[in-house]
Amino acid sequence: MLFSYFPALVALCSTVSALGGLQNIVFKNSKDDLQLAAHKKSATLFLDTEDWPGVVRAGLDLSDDFKKVTGEALPVVNFTGSGICTKVHGKVESAIIIGTVGNSSIIDTLVSAKKLDVSEIEGKWESYVMKVIENPAPCISSALVIAGSDKRGSIFGAYDISEQIGVSPWYWFADVVPATHSEIYVSKSIVKVQGEPSVKYRGIFLNDEQPALAAWVAEFFPEGKYNSYFVHQFYVKLFELLLRMRANFLWPAMWASMFGEDDPENQYWADYYGIVMSTSHTEPLMRATNEWTTFGNGSWDYSTNKDNIVEFWKEGIARSKPYENMWTTGMRGFGDTPITGGVEISLLEDVIKTQRELLTEYFNNTDITDIPQVWCLYKEVQAYFQEGMQVPEDITLLWVDDNWGNNRRLPLANETDRAGGAGVYYHFDYVGSPVDFKWINTVSLEKTWEQMHLAKQKQADQIWVVNVGDMKPLEIPIEYFISLGYDFDTWGPINKVMTWATAWAQREFGAYLKEDDVKEVADIIDLYGFYANRKKYEALNTTTFHLYNYNEAETVLSEWADLADRAWAVYKKLPKNVQPSFFQLVLHPAVAGYTVYDILISAGKNNLYAEQRRNQANALSTHVLDRFQYDNTWKGEYDSLLGGKWKHMMDQTHLGYFYWQQPMRNVAPPLAYVQLEENSLAGSLGVTVEQSRGSVPGDDAYNAVAYSNNTLVLPTLDPYTDSRHITIFNKGIEDFYFEVSPYADYVKVNPSSGSVSATNNSIWNSVDVEVTVDWDQAPEGYNIVFMNITSNTTYEFFGMPTVNLPINKTQAPDDFKGFVETNQHISIEAEHFSNNQSTNDTYYVTIDRYGRTLSGVTLFPVTADSQEATEDYSYLEYNLYSFSAPQYGSNITVYTGSSLNIDPSRPLKYAIAIDDQEPQVVQIVVDPTDPTAMPAHWEDAASDGVWIHNTTHTFDAGEHTLKLWALEPAVVFEKVVVDFGGVVPSFLGPPETYIKK
Ligand SMILES: *[C@@H]1O[C@H](CO)[C@@H](O)[C@H](O)[C@H]1NC(C)=O
Repeated sequence: MLFSYFPALVALCSTVSALGGLQNIVFKNSKDDLQLAAHKKSATLFLDTEDWPGVVRAGLDLSDDFKKVTGEALPVVNFTGSGICTKVHGKVESAIIIGTVGNSSIIDTLVSAKKLDVSEIEGKWESYVMKVIENPAPCISSALVIAGSDKRGSIFGAYDISEQIGVSPWYWFADVVPATHSEIYVSKSIVKVQGEPSVKYRGIFLNDEQPALAAWVAEFFPEGKYNSYFVHQFYVKLFELLLRMRANFLWPAMWASMFGEDDPENQYWADYYGIVMSTSHTEPLMRATNEWTTFGNGSWDYSTNKDNIVEFWKEGIARSKPYENMWTTGMRGFGDTPITGGVEISLLEDVIKTQRELLTEYFNNTDITDIPQVWCLYKEVQAYFQEGMQVPEDITLLWVDDNWGNNRRLPLANETDRAGGAGVYYHFDYVGSPVDFKWINTVSLEKTWEQMHLAKQKQADQIWVVNVGDMKPLEIPIEYFISLGYDFDTWGPINKVMTWATAWAQREFGAYLKEDDVKEVADIIDLYGFYANRKKYEALNTTTFHLYNYNEAETVLSEWADLADRAWAVYKKLPKNVQPSFFQLVLHPAVAGYTVYDILISAGKNNLYAEQRRNQANALSTHVLDRFQYDNTWKGEYDSLLGGKWKHMMDQTHLGYFYWQQPMRNVAPPLAYVQLEENSLAGSLGVTVEQSRGSVPGDDAYNAVAYSNNTLVLPTLDPYTDSRHITIFNKGIEDFYFEVSPYADYVKVNPSSGSVSATNNSIWNSVDVEVTVDWDQAPEGYNIVFMNITSNTTYEFFGMPTVNLPINKTQAPDDFKGFVETNQHISIEAEHFSNNQSTNDTYYVTIDRYGRTLSGVTLFPVTADSQEATEDYSYLEYNLYSFSAPQYGSNITVYTGSSLNIDPSRPLKYAIAIDDQEPQVVQIVVDPTDPTAMPAHWEDAASDGVWIHNTTHTFDAGEHTLKLWALEPAVVFEKVVVDFGGVVPSFLGPPETYIKK
């Protein structure tokens, strides 16, 4: 992207409201500005009706956008040819002129008069230049002239001004309220040259559009043919949204609809607006899948029914020929399934050859290489290419992710000079195995950046199309994806997610919030994606997050509670008329996500508590049912918003997945109840401790000490962990008083006593006892301190409960800096390296909030060659101090992002070594020999967001250095866990352990 500034001095305005682009609109006058609107006096907008109708139409939107901001639309003068002044009486002081180079006589006149320099954009794709010109025509004193290099260049120029004056692309689709201004000016000193977009075709795929989007269009739009409501009245709104975001490409809804047939005007209006239509990977030559069902003859089998299929395609070409299209070539089996069992290269080569002959014929022998075509390598189709299928050079190869946001293949070095280039079909929404994700947003912007950055650097930049399901709940990731593809230079070369999110929050809500709150909004949306991406909502169950190890479930739930609170806090600060857009974009997802997490985690706790016979189990089940009800109430809030404008948009079921497909109805998780009327056989007092499923006193399969039914053992406490926790609860019908009495006075318990009622069964009715050690007083080395739990209640047939606390007083040397073992393990966040060794022009970059726990660390540049595990290559070092490294070796687990082998000849690998030991090389992803299959364990990696690999290393206690090499770019390290025997199961891995500074 090219911006030129002249003169060099640019006045930055205080409320930058456009996303990333150079701002030449200001709301306060300085002497060098041209007034576009002030004191009810607006500039006149001149539109050349001989220009593209889409340009004139966008111009009229611009006029209306001024009305949204100032209350006054721009007066419009339509003119033709050289007659710009024919309808003007007297002189217009201030004007806006929009036109396309070569298609607008006033623009061409200004160019020949050397008043407008279009040399930087002429002949370019979707570019524009804008500047203020004095006396551009005899009847105009000054005008902001916006000259596009082509149709969409001019349209994007018009919408650039719309966005800068404060009209969000989402003003209709997410009800973003433009701030009002009485004065608008354009700087005379800035010439804005907006060069070509980084990715040529950028767009979305409406897919999986039932139940939500389909029910919504049926509610609000007229019925088209064939029982479909996907009619042009709906689509024009979408086209406008896309163009305002500077997207240009669409794969239309196709589950139960046929874009070209449901409404015969659909294709016409797409072209009129300026959207390039295409059809999804499985729908060749502009014909929807359902068109075959409705109009086709025979079976969708090219080997037996070629004539009918060719006839069918001819009709698609004839119907679509007048419009701007990207022609999908190739073929899949019916209903998005493989075409045959095996890899039928010659059959598919013939399909494509025939399709090209048809295109050539229908376009009157136009050179086929001038007709944009794409071949999408979805699922098994990728194998055809891998197996050597010949694809004509000019067809764009559209590589596809694994449906879960991990690119499967990107152009190799020897593929980058194909004339048709390459692109990416990506997923924010998916229906299929291992599980659908189609409710609300679960997209990590950082992951999206990381994968699309790879795609761009590997030159997959002809088409970026993303599956967005029902579209609506994915507003933020959609715009991020389009921004990245439109202006990669601004958003792409390094991770700028937070800058983007802040600019986005500023544009949508900046007029109504203080600067700190704008940052808060950016942080909330970013954190939301971080949390939601840990595991798709649909893939969660009641035990995804560990219920008693590392306090994992509780920690995750409290993070969600905090996020929802923060979103509510900002919501309350906004004016009433702005709240609906904030609700849709920020508040709804945060609260909806929190609610689902609460339902599932609380149900998991309910099941665990019932197993432990806790009275609280019943309160938790009530809590879960309340939250399950609230999930519906919260959906109702969406439905009733703005008089029901978005009714049905949240119809997607999301609770109670029993297999990969969506549940037909929301179902609460199974709940358990204890009999509150009866005492436990072991009395009313119950005790459990962290990392224990069991409780005492009483018989229990999970009591930690064999054959004991009254003793539990805490995990070891050492100086590198703060404390341990005991929980005292009621499991019967008697209120009781208890005391916790350690045998050693250097062990502190807080509180040391308390009481727990039998009848108050709130979920809070238990006592958390924190156990700490006064390390100055504690003896050196390892010992066990017993703790009695005495009370005024009876244990019936059982003994007094006791808890054992293993203590290990150890100390790393004073001069050691790094990770110190605690409780027989070390857990490391990859970004906390002790040393980042860069050599050979490669280096490690931290991607904040990538992955699941903190961040990711990856090798740059991503175009680097394969690396080796020697000190001549870049590596990371982590200083470790161990007290108990076992002689038989320690297990080291490395968590890396769920990325796939984008180059089959360069599988993702890392190397790991302790000190100067021989590095161990681990291949992260092992591709199967069957090219149509996915790698082993791919489902887990995709669904959990990580690859997890182990190596064993033998070393003594003491100080060591762990070295880690990414042997290929695209390896992203998240977490490293060194296990000396103390690691217990969890979803996210053990939380990071102590770092000695
Ligand atoms: C200018 O032309 C457009 C498109 O034909 C039309 O919709 C609009 O009403 C016209 N405006 C004026 C002021 O003539």
